[in-house]
Amino acid sequence: MRDVNQYTVTEAVKASFEAPEGTRFKFLLDTFIEHLHDYTREVNLTQDEWIGILNFLYDCGKISTPERHEFILLSDVLGFSALVDMINTRGGATEGSNLGPFYLDDAPELRLGGDLGRGREGVCVLVHGKVRDTLGNPLPGAIVDTWQADSSGTYPIQEQERGQDKYDLRSKLTADETGAYYYTTVLPKPYTVPYDGPVGRLLRAGERHAWRAAHVHFIVRAPRMRSITTEVFFENTEYLDNDAVFGVRKSLIAKVEPVRKSDVFDYDLERRPDAKFVFDFVLAPEGRGR
Ligand code: BEZ
Ligand code: FE
Repeated sequence: MRDVNQYTVTEAVKASFEAPEGTRFKFLLDTFIEHLHDYTREVNLTQDEWIGILNFLYDCGKISTPERHEFILLSDVLGFSALVDMINTRGGATEGSNLGPFYLDDAPELRLGGDLGRGREGVCVLVHGKVRDTLGNPLPGAIVDTWQADSSGTYPIQEQERGQDKYDLRSKLTADETGAYYYTTVLPKPYTVPYDGPVGRLLRAGERHAWRAAHVHFIVRAPRMRSITTEVFFENTEYLDNDAVFGVRKSLIAKVEPVRKSDVFDYDLERRPDAKFVFDFVLAPEGRGR
């Protein structure tokens, strides 16, 4: 390998990994090496730039804790997470979008018609819709797991030091026999992704802001169906066209509308809403290709 040069080094590195050809691991590794080397040659990377990139990654590791995964944030602001979500959305199913860092898998249950906002201040909205499969059949008993920021753009989990309960504004609902789910909550406001670390430095250097469009997160699950992780956004709100993590898709934007008096009775609601939005979820069968 002593006659290696800037062109032959790529094949030499690939060949040095003797993992079996034809495996997914070897394919992922070889392709990564090719693209990394191609990038390096294409931009004619200097040594200062090379160490700059590695120090940046080192800083991402240094600031990361179990509660703060700076590499996921980096993936988010580079559109890498969004790309993976898009590639893995099944035809006919609801489009996927960011999980974000604030999910807890043991959220409490909320009865259909309950108030997720627990009376907190803000615009109270009725959220309702159906969970169906890609053929349009309802999925009774589907689990709709939701979490969101409050009407000032804060997740209660971020405010535990100020006495907030980390389980506030998150719940699991069970769709009824027609696949319907419904509850009230407060409309969330936009908020910024954390920008006090290396990813924030990157955003500033690139003259970008850290704002996310207001959204509600959902994970929807049903037996034998591929679960979906997504977000719902709201028409005519800020940052829909420049969300910091590229999470917005046209199909995920809901229209907030006036509520009818009868909605309160139709849905046996705990709290009278000021407005409502509808969002239906479509799940594809498990194990099906794209
Ligand atoms: C969120 O949607 O909660 C989120 C996504 C990416 C980075 C930070 C927060
Ligand atoms: Fe979020």
